Amino acid sequence: MYFIGIDLGTSAVKLLLMDQDGVIKKSVSRDYPIIFPRTGWSEQNPEDWYEQTKDGLKELLSDIDKDEVAGIGFGGQMHGLVVLDQEDKVIRPTILWNDNRTAAETEYLNQEIGKDKLSEYTANIAFAGFTAPKILWMRKHEPENFNRISKIMLPKDYIAYRLTGVHCTDPSDASGTLLYDVKNKCWSKEMIEICGVDEEQLPTVYESFEVVGTIKEEVAEELGLSKDVKVVAGAGDNAAAAVGTGTVGEGKCNVSLGTSGTIFISSRSFGVDKNNALHSFAHADGNYHLMGVVLSAASCNKWWMEDILKTTDFAGEQKNIKNLGKNQVYFLPYLMGERSPHNDPNARGTFIGMTMDTSREDMTQAMMEGVAFGIRDSYEIAKSLGIKVERTKMCGGGAKSPLWRRILANVLNLKVDILEAEEGPALGGAMLAAVGCGVYSSVEEIAQKLVKVKETVEPDPEIVDLYNQRYEIFKSIYPTLKGLFEDMRID
Ligand code: XUL
Repeated sequence: MYFIGIDLGTSAVKLLLMDQDGVIKKSVSRDYPIIFPRTGWSEQNPEDWYEQTKDGLKELLSDIDKDEVAGIGFGGQMHGLVVLDQEDKVIRPTILWNDNRTAAETEYLNQEIGKDKLSEYTANIAFAGFTAPKILWMRKHEPENFNRISKIMLPKDYIAYRLTGVHCTDPSDASGTLLYDVKNKCWSKEMIEICGVDEEQLPTVYESFEVVGTIKEEVAEELGLSKDVKVVAGAGDNAAAAVGTGTVGEGKCNVSLGTSGTIFISSRSFGVDKNNALHSFAHADGNYHLMGVVLSAASCNKWWMEDILKTTDFAGEQKNIKNLGKNQVYFLPYLMGERSPHNDPNARGTFIGMTMDTSREDMTQAMMEGVAFGIRDSYEIAKSLGIKVERTKMCGGGAKSPLWRRILANVLNLKVDILEAEEGPALGGAMLAAVGCGVYSSVEEIAQKLVKVKETVEPDPEIVDLYNQRYEIFKSIYPTLKGLFEDMRID
């Protein structure tokens, strides 16, 4: 029996075929463009997602017995606003999770409605990338589009809809809309009213491992699959990655270095920090998690390597970097503004501390360290809540770099477990499908049985010490520049 995991990422859709014992038989990926209509804005076309997903599925299924495919599950970039009209046609391109156009709406929600109320209704406050501020932005700036909305959904849900015809989402992705009451796991009546929408416009929420339907006949025919293939709701990419890395149950940690960087801590019980600096979201295992998000992580590396240094030899650029903890250059990774913990769409990427003897390697190292320090900002908040973590898993494109693994282990002073299977969210999606099809009884059970650690990177106490000193400096750079970022803001 086979299960397909579809990870609808920001730069590409990654698809994976897993058998019931967790063996990954094949994986393929298909790119699509991001449109940046203005500085700080980012959009994608849902049709591109679907076409590329179908194309990827055809390759994935090309040399297997298609009748063996039993289920499909998803991970997907979170928070994006997908809007459909009455004919279920996409109204406008999707405004993505790292789009910062909603500064005014975010401020309105946090200041006028008030953070306390938002936290009471949803367990979270507003961040520019969340879905509710995007709805308010659309209501103000595109009233004609807003008035045509019949259904609102999140990116991966659009693919589920195209495959099954069902308008669905799951609690982990719903959490990132700021329309969902995370604690009570239902849409928030208050937030629905604040955003001027109706509950009927929102998708039905299924647990991530729950079957929402089977694939439509015409899709089954086109892909050569049986129309009995079950589709589960899936999860936001971070929750799906957490499943794929076995970060389920109580007190487990995963750091993902993808386009964004996240630190994800699973919990069996609901919890929220009093400043809402970390997101308090539902998890794909039926429980909850806390999460901090650095908006630009592996994307800083891509930008620095490809756009600035004009190279694709990422490993070559890193191979001479040896002086961990001794670099005098610092980097703020805020190329798309910053989410956790500063919540500042005006923040900008910054190199600071260069001298005449600063080398290319120092700056590459600073870029990688800056991302790790950004993750540490959120980890410090988790620690201040009394959360004790001894080790973390690591996944995402950045986890492929042995140097980044070491930097992270030492900056966080945590053991970093590298897993046999690196395909976090796509694997998580396939695992959720296996649970939905009844092959495993729970997400925890499948994670325990299938996730295997390949290697552990241990922190070195001397380097940890050096990084602790450097972190103190890193921490003071943003507050020093905050006012300047505000002055530099482009409207
Ligand atoms: C999470 C977030 C990002 C996206 C990236 O809150 O905004 O991690 O999900 O795909």
